[in-house]
Amino acid sequence: MFTLVVPGDALAADKPKGANTYLTFCGGCHGFDGEPIYIYAPSFYYGDRMQKSDAELLQSVLNGTKGMPHWEGKLPVEDLRNAIDYLRLMYKRYKKGEPSRQEEMPDVHYYFKPTGKENLDWVTE
Ligand code: HEC
Repeated sequence: MFTLVVPGDALAADKPKGANTYLTFCGGCHGFDGEPIYIYAPSFYYGDRMQKSDAELLQSVLNGTKGMPHWEGKLPVEDLRNAIDYLRLMYKRYKKGEPSRQEEMPDVHYYFKPTGKENLDWVTE
């Protein structure tokens, strides 16, 4: 066995698998620290939706929901599964009194505007 060291990603071996996917594509709504920054997005750090099974959560992520665009065909299913593991890890950390995110932010990470499917009648702008 040997470890492939990728420049700039030296800690990759210790990093939970789903961290980069979550922090790049999901955190812009669900929060880079698991506290949401997008309208109606659940807070995984505080345990929202965590009573649902992995299969249920994956279905929502693949198909999209009222407030969330679908992810099927946009990212590999394996990456989406790992991202779900990572958002569950945030809740585990909450229960242990630990900070939600203990990993470095990826250099590239996206923020999102409302998709237009939400009920935003009350937003004045
Ligand atoms: C554009 C904003 C946005 C992005 C980006 C986004 N989500 Fe969501 N997500 C939401 C909103 C809003 C909800 C709540 C939807 C609802 O209650 O109908 C949600 C719900 C969820 C749920 C709960 C589903 C359920 O069945 O209760 C999971 C799990 C989830 N998102 C995971 C992810 C993952 C993983 C990613 C990245 C691949 C991601 N989200 C990216 C906005 C987003």
